This record gives sequence, C-alpha cells and structure tokens, in this order.
Amino acid sequence: MRTEQPKTIYLKDYQAPDYLIDETHLTFELHDDHTLVHAQLVMRRNPAAGGGLPPLVLDGQQLELLSLKLDDAELGSADYQLSEDHLSLQPKAEQFTLDSSVRIHPETNTALEGLYKSSGLFCTQCEAEGFRKITYYLDRPDVMSTFTTSLSADKQKYPILLSNGNPVAQGEDQGGRHWATWEDPFKKPAYLFALVAGDLWCVEDTFTRASGRDVTLRIYVEPENIDKCQHAMDSLKKSMRWDEQVYGREYDLDIFMIVAVNDFNMGAMENKGLNIFNSSCVLAKAETATDAAHQRVEAVVAHEYFHNWSGNRVTCRDWFQLSLKEGFTVFRDAEFSADMNSRTVKRIEDVAFLRTHQFAEDAGPMAHPVRPASFMEISNFYTLTVYEKGSEVVRMLRTLLGAEGFRKGSDLYFERHDGQAVTCDDFVQAMEDANAVDLSQFKRWYSQAGTPRLAASEQYDESANTYTLSFRQSCPATPESAEKQPFVIPVELGLLDAQGRALPLRLQGEATPQGTTRVLAVTEAEQHFTFLDVPAKPLPSLLRGFSAPVKLSFPYNRDQLMFLMQHDSDGFNRWEAGQQLAVQVLQDMIGQYQAGQPLVADVRLLQAFETLLDDDSLDQAMVAEMLSLPGEAYLTEISEVADVDAIHAARDVARKQLANHLHARLWRRYQANREVSRVTPYLASAEHFARRALQNITLSYLMLSEREDVLAATLEQFENADNMTERLTALAVLVNSPFERERAAALDRFAEQFKGNPLVMDQWFTVQAGSTLPGGLTRVKALMLHPAFTMKNPNKVRALIGAFASQNLVNFHAADGSGYRFLADIVIELNGFNPQIASRQLAPLTRWRKYDSARQALMKAELERILASGELSSDVYEVVSKSLA
Ligand code: TRP
Ligand code: ZN
Repeated sequence: MRTEQPKTIYLKDYQAPDYLIDETHLTFELHDDHTLVHAQLVMRRNPAAGGGLPPLVLDGQQLELLSLKLDDAELGSADYQLSEDHLSLQPKAEQFTLDSSVRIHPETNTALEGLYKSSGLFCTQCEAEGFRKITYYLDRPDVMSTFTTSLSADKQKYPILLSNGNPVAQGEDQGGRHWATWEDPFKKPAYLFALVAGDLWCVEDTFTRASGRDVTLRIYVEPENIDKCQHAMDSLKKSMRWDEQVYGREYDLDIFMIVAVNDFNMGAMENKGLNIFNSSCVLAKAETATDAAHQRVEAVVAHEYFHNWSGNRVTCRDWFQLSLKEGFTVFRDAEFSADMNSRTVKRIEDVAFLRTHQFAEDAGPMAHPVRPASFMEISNFYTLTVYEKGSEVVRMLRTLLGAEGFRKGSDLYFERHDGQAVTCDDFVQAMEDANAVDLSQFKRWYSQAGTPRLAASEQYDESANTYTLSFRQSCPATPESAEKQPFVIPVELGLLDAQGRALPLRLQGEATPQGTTRVLAVTEAEQHFTFLDVPAKPLPSLLRGFSAPVKLSFPYNRDQLMFLMQHDSDGFNRWEAGQQLAVQVLQDMIGQYQAGQPLVADVRLLQAFETLLDDDSLDQAMVAEMLSLPGEAYLTEISEVADVDAIHAARDVARKQLANHLHARLWRRYQANREVSRVTPYLASAEHFARRALQNITLSYLMLSEREDVLAATLEQFENADNMTERLTALAVLVNSPFERERAAALDRFAEQFKGNPLVMDQWFTVQAGSTLPGGLTRVKALMLHPAFTMKNPNKVRALIGAFASQNLVNFHAADGSGYRFLADIVIELNGFNPQIASRQLAPLTRWRKYDSARQALMKAELERILASGELSSDVYEVVSKSLA
C-alpha cells in the first residue's frame, strides 16, 4: 500500500534512460521464510541520453537492502539514497558494475506480482512493473539486457528449477539443496524475466523448425494434472507451424517451456522461453474442460507463443505502447484460431465481445485511446481497448493494405526492429514504407478514444441507374478529449439485388466494375459514394466482417434484415442481420414492459428462427450463434438509459415465446445431435464444437417449457455425457429451471464428483453465480463460505464474484443497492492484498452513468465509500477517482 497519492505519468514526458544494462547476473537463494537475491549489473552511460554523469536512479519496492557494491567499492549508507520506490547513487565512470543483495518475502506476497508462491511453487510475474519487487533495477522496457540466472533451493521440495533461456549448469549443495544456472542470450527487458521452482512433472515433445533444427517443448504442471496437457501441447505445435507459414517467424531458442500455476492475476505471460500460465489456460481434457475452455487454451497458448516475436524480439519502448505488442498479438491469435476452427464463428464471438465490453469501456470514465496518453497505474491499462480494439486497428490495416501488403509491412517491421524497443509509430511506419502509402490520418485510431458512430443512408436514382451511399461519422467526447478528427473507416460492402444476388460494383469514375465486394475508405466527416449501372434499388450489406470497430446505423426494416439473414454472401453479416432484427424486436418489448403492456415478440423473429432450424444444410455452429439473442449486457450498452428489469423481462419473455413456438423443431435438432454425441467419442474439433453448440442451445430453449420430458432429457445428458461441455450445460439448464429438487441434487453430485479439481469447481461457482432466479446475492454469499472458495485465488474471485457482477445483471443491479454494497465490500477487502484483482472487480460500478438516477446515486455512494475506506492502492485509487470525476 502506498503512502503518497499516485502521480499521473504522461507519454509526452518520455525520456530515454540515462544508463543501460548490458548484462544481468542474478542469483536466487530460495528459502521457506525468505529469499536472497544477488544482482550483478554490468552498466554504462546511455550514449543517446546527453552528456555528464547524472545520478543513477534504480527502481525497487519492498526490498530489504543487504549490501551494495560499485565496481570494487563496498557502499555505505552515506553513498546512496533510499526511498519507498527508488535507490539512487552517483556513478563515477561511464561504465561500471553494480552488485546488490536484497532480502524479499515471496512466501507472504499475496499481490501475485514479483516473486511469489502459488500452491507451494515459487514463480514470478514481472509485467508490467513487478521486477522492481525482486531487485533494484532499471525496470522499464527500453532497458534491454542479457540475463544469467542461478537459483538454489531445497532439492526435495523444489526438484525443478527453471529460468529463461537455455540450461547451462546444475549441481548439488550441502544441506539437501541444489542449484541450476540458465542463460538467456537474447537481450530483453526485465518484464520478461521468469523463474520457477517446485515439484512439477512435465510432458515433453519436439518441434522441427522449418529450417530443420529441433526445439524441445515442455509443459510443467502439478503431478495430478499430467493427464491434461496434451491439448496445450498440440496447440503449441500448431502455433509454431502457423507463425512460420503465415508470418515467416521461427522460434529462436533450443527449448520452450510452459508452466501452469493456480494463482495468477491474468491469463498467461510470455516470459522469454518460459511462459507462465494460469492453469485455466493450459489444462484441458474432455472430462473436465468445456469446448470453450479448449478453445481458450488453444488461443492463449498461441497468443503467448506469438509474443516471442511480437513483444519479445521486438518489444515496447514504454508502457504507453502496450498495444504495439498486445493489439498485434491478439490479432495474430485471432487469425490463428480462425484458421484452426470456424473463421466466421470466431469473428462473431470476438465482435459480440468487443461490442458488449470494449464499447462499454470506451463510453465510460476509464475510456482511453489504444495508445493512452497518461496513466497512474499501468496495471489498469491491460484493457479491452488496448487488447481488443488494438487488434481491430491492426485488422483494419490489413483490410486497407491487403494480405500481401500487410505481410510486407510485418516483415519489414520485424527485420528493421529486431532486438529493439519501439513505438506504435514505428509499426505504422513499417506498414507505410513497405507499401508506399500515407497512414498519417489512420494513426488517429491510436490517439483518439471513443467508439465512432457511422450513420449510412442511401439514395437510388431510377432514371440514371445510380445508387449513392452517404456516410456521416462522429465520435462522442471522452474524458481526455472533446473534439475528434475524422477517422479512416474501412467499410467493406456489397449490394444485393431482389433475388439476393451480388451486384458488380462500379464506382463513379471507374471504367469497369471491380468485383462484388469491396472496401471503401470513409475518411471525411461526411462522404458519398455513387455506384453506376445499378438497374434497380439494391439492398446494401455494410461493414462486412465488421471491417471497423464503429457503431454503424442504416435504416433497415425488418423484412430487409430477414432477407439479409438468408441471402448475404458474408456469413458475419447474415448473423449481424439476425442480431439487428432481434435488437429491434427486443427494444419493442422493452417499451411494452415500460408501458405496462403485455410483452409480445414480433412473429418475424419466430419465422426467422423457424427457417434456421429447418435448414439442415446450414453450419450448425452458425445456427447456434444465430439462435442466441443479444445478451443483456449488450442491450444495456446500446441503451441511452438501461432499464435493467425491462431488459431482463424482454429477453426472458422473447426466449420463452421462441421456445414455445419452436418446441418441435428444437426437439428434433436437440435429439439428433444428442444421439450423435452419445455414440461419438469427444473431439476438440470445429465440427464437434458446432454440433455441441447447437445441441446445447436447443436444450436451454427447450427447458423454458418446463416440461417433464425435457427434464428427463437434461438429466440423461447430465448423467451420461462423456465430456464437460454437455455435462455443464445440463447443469446450467437445471440451475436456471424451476425443478428445485433435481437442481439441488445435480449441484451436489457435481461438487462431489469434482471436488478435487479446482478448475471444475470454478465452473460450478460460475453456473450458480449466473442464475437469475431471485435471491442471487444470498446464494453468492453462501457460496463464498464453501470450502472450495477462497478470496486469495483470482480464478475463484472471477468465477463467483466477477461472474455475478457482470453476468447476473438483474440480481447485481437489485434496486435496493445490495449488489453494489456487496461489490464495494469485496473491492475494499481485495485492495488490502491484491490491488490488481481489486481494481478489475470494480469495473461494473464504474458504469453508473448507464442507469436510472436512483441506481446512479447508489453506485456513486459505494464508489465514495471505497475512496474513503482507508489506504488505497494506486490501482483502485485511479479507477475510483476517475469514475467519480
Ligand atoms: N502480457 C500478458 C499477456 O499476454 C499480460 C499479463 C500477464 C499481465 N500477467 C499480467 C499484465 C499481470 C499485467 C499484470 O497478455
Ligand atoms: Zn499478450
């Protein structure tokens, strides 16, 4: 906890470091009640940072300094200054070696940053500024050094000793201790440092690089999890091959290791050669992990692996450039997942997530550009904007440059900046230079926050056979800036004729048509595009594949949306048309609820769903996506003022009416798929994911009928499923059903069966946290007393409390404010021992502007109570104070 008020740090104040570190030699003596860290830093004056010998200011927090030596001179307390965050001293020469010894306490580190213990295992998390909790250092990404790391520990308790790079030596010490030395030849910033010591088993494999050399691959886990590593290993090998084929990037060390840990603040970390993962992002097998979990493991393994180039070989100059590595790497992993599974389904999932959560962030008090201009606590900026919107920005670059031009740009970027710490401008510059284009206006995507609105309208001229699309763009004010300059918005589009055929597209000024789908760049506040030779008024299909992260509006009527649902050649836009239709219908019903009228879903929605269920030729995963109504959180995001109860009621009634109307059709599809599942062994493949997705969504609709035969089918699936996807869906369906006795029995049975598996118990918590039956908060509080729950484990907090606050909106937003009070209490408690998790759990309270004035007052009161609760971490302080500003 801090005693000073956190300061704001600005991008415009960036200065190159005064000193550089060429070599870092670390020795760790790991003990049960303390750890000693000896650091030898081979340093020199930075030639790029002016003359003279300024003081050397090293970062360091919560370190007990034991000794300090400058070259051969032992330093006394008069030779340096210590503060809460720094150690300063005066160098005597341009080049010098600094030796320090400190004592630290990983065994009591609950913040899970720096060196800490998780289930008896020593591990590290240094990004973004955790290395300063290990030793005194220049803890900034533009200081890049080679590292040699020796670690020693009790051999029996910690038989495995790992660090970055290649193993070079090992041996035994007296007293049952042993040691190992690792050498990482690649220069890297301290945030990529890692160390692991523990009793781990590993699965090993090899990968043969395109150029012929073998790499050893190892995944280290606790012994009981050794049977859950194969999927991650397969994913790793696929990622390595894909990066060779798609980006021409090979792996560069002889060994690549992944370690799974149970206590981790995020998903995983790309430490050079030694990735450390939240166990939830490694472990997967059919019996214990859902299809979604399998896909998440594949994506996160790929993401961290891809960082070896986009992040490690080419890293960030400063933390304002975070999206340079994260946005790019999310884009890379998304394309990888699209290639491994269903491309359209992956895009639908990502866009639904972006529009629900990133758009909400962009409209809230923490809104910031993809490249933030300032921050108090960098941990607060590992956001959906930096990651997800950052990925969309890279995607737009590829859309504008084409796949080939984009590859030329990425080749130039990696070649030009290998071994350097660079900026988002350098990335765009490489794209510009490789393609001889000017992207200066495009760069506004990095500096302007907020989600642009794009209003499109049409005009058809019958006599001239011309069709004009007009676009008007604007962007709402955000905390940092009121006035926005126009963005470059790539709009991929096509025009459909009355039969649903794609029209050839010839723009005014062109001699011939240029295909039937194309990308228009909207660059002005207002802009018109006229198509020639259009024989009759067409129907436009706009923003295909969601070609830009904007809020598009076009005055479609419901019949046109139904037409697009069936005929658009772009799969993403077929889904999008269905979503827009559903939004219109649900918004009607929200109005009916507010007017005290009976709620009735437009028959056109029922008809559209009939058509989907009757067509056995459609991809089942697409049908499942199209049968999913927009979520309550998305309906909240697109509301001016969100009426929690009306949104919930509208969606609930619409689902029931669909279920009743479609009962026979849902049964047919459910039973056909369950039958196949019964006789087909589980496979983590796109085809199987698709079947189970449709099977499971049809079951959840069917249960809304509350019929006994559906109950029987659900229980059958729950009992007999050979995989977690089917079993957990059946459980979720029961939990949300009125069949109390069966619900309780299933929950008990599930808990009994999986009590030894914390990741499965997380799912058990989440299913119950999401139940919208009345009394949600009481149930959550009761579950917090369950022996499998602990506030100290971030996965547990997310599974129960995070799921409740973000997915159970009717209960969390209970009109009496009980949900808000509960969450504030949780944040205050977490603030005391894990500031990063505390700050993340806060997000739902920061959205107070979306609600009615009574709820606004209740939410603000809780934010104020947090602010007044005592000593706040910089993480929580920043979010609370900005939310109240
Ligand atoms: N770089 C990590 C990633 O791949 C992010 C990360 C992992 C992280 N652990 C963290 C960020 C802890 C902040 C704090 O996305
Ligand atoms: Zn990342």
